[in-house]
Amino acid sequence: MIFATGNEDKMKEIRMIMGEDHGKVLSMKEAGIQIDIEENGTTYEENALIKARAVAKRVHDLVLADDSGLEIDFLNGEPGVYSARYLGEDTSYRVKNAKLLKRLEGVSEEKRTARFVCAIGAVFPDGREVTVRAAVEGRIDYEEKGKNGFGYDPIFYVPELGKTTAEMTEEEKNSISHRGKALRMLKEELGKNL
Ligand code: IMP
Repeated sequence: MIFATGNEDKMKEIRMIMGEDHGKVLSMKEAGIQIDIEENGTTYEENALIKARAVAKRVHDLVLADDSGLEIDFLNGEPGVYSARYLGEDTSYRVKNAKLLKRLEGVSEEKRTARFVCAIGAVFPDGREVTVRAAVEGRIDYEEKGKNGFGYDPIFYVPELGKTTAEMTEEEKNSISHRGKALRMLKEELGKNL
């Protein structure tokens, strides 16, 4: 199967979680597919399916794609579905995280609630489509902490484990993360549908 993403950090998490139960998971690059896909959907599910369908048109394999984002309650769910594009696609996460921390300056702990959300879309070679969605609840910390992970991980604090997702080992993050949960849900769906 092919996972329609160009993000190597995500691929690493996906490979760890999917294992080889349903065959090897190839990235778009490994499958030799080079296309620019415009994510113009308004929901995570729509965007995941836009990516999966674009690749599925070119191959006869099962194609998966995810779309994810960080929702901050105090900012009415921002950056949400626009998380990758927040302040511009090429802006570093140092800058994006600093901006979000600034926008939450003076906001009390109980009002800093946030979640990472992940939807995964699967398009089967016969055209059937499945989507799953999962989330991990947490809050925005007061400063960046930790060097692991990527993106908004250094500012996303998970009370359950008492640390940010950037302070977690890969195993810890995968066990609680939005993507980890969604991938495990999808694995179950694939078991039923393949
Ligand atoms: P996507 O590649 O369109 O799904 O973009 C999702 C964006 O949400 C990423 O570029 C990150 O900014 C953010 N994001 C999603 N999942 C994570 C995560 O596990 N850690 C940190 N940031 C994440």
